Amino acid sequence: VCSQQDDFKAFYEKMIDADGVLFVDPIFESGCTGLFHNLMDRMGPGHDTGLLLGCSEKMKAQGKQPLDMKYFKQKAISFVGIGGSDWAVRVETDHAMLAMSPGWKVVDNDYFSWSKDVIMQDDKVERMREIANNLVDAAQDMIDRHLMIFDPDNDKLDYWKGKKSACPHCHGNNFYIHPGTDIAECELCGLKGKLVVEDGAMTLKFDPAEEFHAHDLLSGKKLHGDDIFENEGRLMGLYKDEEFKRRKAHYTSVIEPTPSPSK
Ligand SMILES: Cc1cc2nc3c(=O)[nH]c(=O)nc-3n(C[C@H](O)[C@H](O)[C@H](O)COP(=O)(O)O)c2cc1C
Repeated sequence: VCSQQDDFKAFYEKMIDADGVLFVDPIFESGCTGLFHNLMDRMGPGHDTGLLLGCSEKMKAQGKQPLDMKYFKQKAISFVGIGGSDWAVRVETDHAMLAMSPGWKVVDNDYFSWSKDVIMQDDKVERMREIANNLVDAAQDMIDRHLMIFDPDNDKLDYWKGKKSACPHCHGNNFYIHPGTDIAECELCGLKGKLVVEDGAMTLKFDPAEEFHAHDLLSGKKLHGDDIFENEGRLMGLYKDEEFKRRKAHYTSVIEPTPSPSK
């Protein structure tokens, strides 16, 4: 599945074999740690369920052994960020991004600020217990249903147990405001709309007909995969283009990589 031969494979297989996954990660610079980010980058796009599914179907069509069905089992996943201060506003989004590639269902996504002494803070220990129980319940339900990512009703199922969030689709709270417009784009699921106040809380209003675009849905993954294949194909053609080759030679002639000081 991955050409890099390192610890990632063992880690990935451990997640695949688990009924549910709970990540606890320190908060670094208001977001996830570098280690977590590396893991997230290794998860996508090579481990994107949409791409794996397409790959498996191609293997089957060629008479080869398709991928093991365990890679397509729906999974419950929760995240907790632990902070030593109160800088934390990107951490939930960073964490939930890991679940986007496989399309796993996020149950809780929380963070605890000022928590280097978290074992002394009973309310947070209690909340942690609740997060663990929620995860177990969601995982059990998925097992009982034999829920697979490609099941027709999978996209509609929501296992979220966290607080009401601004994005009603993926429960994200971070948005990119397209400059000079009133268009807000959810940083997690990519749905675009307007942020409006409803019952005293900000909510993303999007066109329901556009929801199938969301990055976590199989329909959204298919669209994204098709777009990538089209663009990569165009790029392959461009590599043979004389003007492209001329420009590449021009730009690479003036740059030199900085060698690693340790080598
Ligand atoms: C590079 C670095 C950046 C950090 N940035 C944040 C931050 O933005 N917000 C925060 O709450 N804590 C931050 N911390 C504190 C860590 O979250 C804290 O050290 C972590 O929870 C682990 O606890 P420990 O140091 O007792 O092992 C940072 C720590 C390091 C080393």
